[in-house]
Formats: sequence, C-alpha cells, structure tokens
Amino acid sequence: MTAEEILAQIAKEVSVCTNCDLHKGRKRAVPGEGPAEAEVMLIGEGPGFYENEQGRPFVGAAGQFLEQLLAQAGLKRTDVWIGNVVKCRPPNNRDPLPEELAACDLYLERQIAAINPKIIITLGRFSMGKFMPGARISGVHGQMRQIGGRFVIPMFHPAAALHNPTYKPLILQDFARLPHMLEQARAALAKMRPAPVEPETPKEEPKQLNLF
Ligand code: URA
Repeated sequence: MTAEEILAQIAKEVSVCTNCDLHKGRKRAVPGEGPAEAEVMLIGEGPGFYENEQGRPFVGAAGQFLEQLLAQAGLKRTDVWIGNVVKCRPPNNRDPLPEELAACDLYLERQIAAINPKIIITLGRFSMGKFMPGARISGVHGQMRQIGGRFVIPMFHPAAALHNPTYKPLILQDFARLPHMLEQARAALAKMRPAPVEPETPKEEPKQLNLF
C-alpha cells in the first residue's frame, strides 16, 4: 500500500471508531489531512466545534492563526500534514483524558509511520507529552530535538497563544525560526537516512538460444 492509501485506510477506520467514549458526541471524526509525503507534520490536541462539524483539523480561529504562522515560515497549509492526538471532539473542548489519548494513539502512530516526516511540530502540551513526557512547554518551546530518526519541535498551541498575550510573541518567534530548523533537519537527515535507491535500468533480456 502507498502512504496515501494507508492514510485513507486510517481515516476510514477513524470515522467509525468506537474505541473510547468520545465517539458518542461525535458529529464528524477528524482524522487529519495533508500530503502523504509532507516533510512537516503538525499535531494538535483535538477537534473543536468547527472541526467536529466539518471533519477537518484547525478550521476555526486557531486554524486561521496557524495558517498565519505557517505563512511566516514560508509554508502553506497544503504543504504540511495536520492532525491531532485525539480524532473526536472532547465535550465542551475539555482536555482529552488519558484513556482517550491511549485509545487514539495507535492511529497517530500509524499516520506518523506512513508519512515519515522529517519534523513533527507539536501544538500544545498533550501533543508535546507524547514525545517529551514530563517536559514543560515554557522551558522547551521552539527548541528542536532529535527523537529517533526525526526531529520534534514543541510549540505553544495557537489557541492558547491567541488568548494569552504572553505567548503570542513567543509563538511568532518560534515559527519564524522554522525555515532555519527545517534546513538543519534536512541536512542532519540526509546523513542519517540513506538516499532512496534509484531503480536500475532494466537489463536487456538474454536472448533465447534456439538449440533445436
Ligand atoms: N485545536 C486543536 O488542537 N486541533 C484542532 O483541530 C482545532 C483546534
């Protein structure tokens, strides 16, 4: 299966998932979206009101701000893959519960494996917690860290930054450094990940010897 087919399969499973109670209040599940070959994957928390209506991630106010942040880094929304740690809306946008995060984690793991991004940007503390358990966002935001064969950058959640005047200049600064971090990640991974093997030009079939 291609990465695109795997992502489509996961989206299908997510749309009918009943692995946790969040499905009970779901209008539309939000599996995530973007190019299967994206270099950058953004992982938020969970769908809000508009995402639950539309089945798409970050389509409300936080999404608009996220698009501004990406534009500042020279990226379009369609260049990156965007998803969440939980795929169904928590009631009244409450924090996802540990059992909800656990129930949804395998979908996210499969999405990460299919996309194999160079950089994962975590948006908010639940997404950060998956990769950097115990870290404090105020201490690590905007700092790229190598985790396994890729890089992770924890960022403030755009909704928190929109509502808290302390975080807004910080998230703007962190995203402004993204092009530089992307260059660093590309250079480091070019050394770590073997270059894709070019398919050999097919050799000419040996001629059949007609012995009879
Ligand atoms: N906030 C999130 O964390 N995810 C969304 O998809 C929308 C808002």
